[in-house]
Amino acid sequence: MSVLVRSGVGPLCVAARTVIPFIWRGKYFSSGNEPAENNPVTPMLRHLMYKIKSTGPITVAEYMKEVLTNPAKGYYVYHDMLGEKGDFITSPEISQIFGELLGIWFISEWMATGKSIAFQLVELGPGRGTLMGDILRVCSQLGSVLKNCDISIHLVEVSQKLSEIQASTLTEEKVPLERNADSPVYMKGVTKSGIPISWYRDLQDVPKEYSFYLAHEFFDVLPVHKFQKTPQGWREVFIDVDPQIPDKLRFVLAPCVTPATAFIQHDETRDHVEVCPDAGVIIQELSQRIALTGGAALIADYGHDGTKTDTFRGFCGHKLHDVLIAPGTADLTADVDFSYLRRMAKGKVASLGPIKQQTFLKNMGIDVRLKVLLDKSDEPSVRQQLLHGYDMLMNPKKMGDRFNFFALLPHQRLHGGMHQKNTCQSKPSASPVAGFSELAWQ
Ligand SMILES: C[S@@+](CC[C@H](N)C(=O)[O-])C[C@H]1O[C@@H](n2cnc3c(N)ncnc32)[C@H](O)[C@@H]1O
Repeated sequence: MSVLVRSGVGPLCVAARTVIPFIWRGKYFSSGNEPAENNPVTPMLRHLMYKIKSTGPITVAEYMKEVLTNPAKGYYVYHDMLGEKGDFITSPEISQIFGELLGIWFISEWMATGKSIAFQLVELGPGRGTLMGDILRVCSQLGSVLKNCDISIHLVEVSQKLSEIQASTLTEEKVPLERNADSPVYMKGVTKSGIPISWYRDLQDVPKEYSFYLAHEFFDVLPVHKFQKTPQGWREVFIDVDPQIPDKLRFVLAPCVTPATAFIQHDETRDHVEVCPDAGVIIQELSQRIALTGGAALIADYGHDGTKTDTFRGFCGHKLHDVLIAPGTADLTADVDFSYLRRMAKGKVASLGPIKQQTFLKNMGIDVRLKVLLDKSDEPSVRQQLLHGYDMLMNPKKMGDRFNFFALLPHQRLHGGMHQKNTCQSKPSASPVAGFSELAWQ
């Protein structure tokens, strides 16, 4: 295993990345029916068994929420699950080019919408802070373009462990962090490039100012309800204690209609569906904010356009993992239904995509950026890492086809007539949105 370190600063700064034969979470796995060779009784399993025995079977959404974000035992709360020693790998951890191109996307949208004198960059579920670090490096390199703009960073993160890692990745050590566990802004500091940075547990608490929002592999960890079509109509999937095997959970079907069944579309043609109401709430909040103040949201995740059925799966130690075994020790995820996100945004803002990651990154100029980095690097290990990262991100058999980009924009952005309150450029613009159409490189 070779781990590459930062080899400098400036345009050729090659950020530390691992050459990874590890698993990415877009992989598909039919879950819940693997043989239980090893089913350790984790504290989370004990908690869930107690809960189910006391109050009855729980929905898959409640199971996901408990397992992932329970404040005392949740998988995300105290784990660093990303990278070589973790459970899975994500695009920003694979190649610095990914974050650099997303940074360029935000700056390009900021320019296309009139170069406001201030904006907030808000990231939902920032992991280890790697993606934001790469975006901030681009902002520093384009300092002459952004020089009169007041930027602030706002991270929405429920994980205590990951927020600490984000702080050490992004902030200036010499400036002590302000902490207040009881406040909606539970941590505050200054980034290495001197930008104010704040942490929240909930998007609702982020100031409603002109903002660019980013969510990479965030929506797929939000809890889903699962439904099965039966001769009696739609029935929700629940999780119950297995009466045959001690300390084992199993899937069961609700005997009658449950309230969440209302989320299923009347014209649904699939026989199994997953619905994520929390994703709907967040998309509505983002849409209201963007409609009110301007800005944009860029959402990248694996998913489908309302076509897939059972996508609920688990990951542990870079291997697929039965979702009901040893809860709390493995990541749980379900593909994002972009058709649902689009429905939730409809009327308030315009949406673009989903488009495949390989198309988006190609349109953003990944080939040009790769060539620049390769041309300037003599170090074989750095070149190998750059090429490996490119292949992981772009290869349709790897992450290129499974991952998608989706954007929310004010209606005026697509039809012209943008008018920002705080702009220093008055001419409205309806230029093509980068990434979603080819950029003309000059
Ligand atoms: C799969 S990781 C992705 C991390 C990062 N975006 C990346 O691509 O490397 C999911 C992230 O979302 C955070 N998260 C999970 N549930 C959350 C919630 N309900 N609210 C805020 N953050 C959450 C996790 O702690 C983690 O930072």
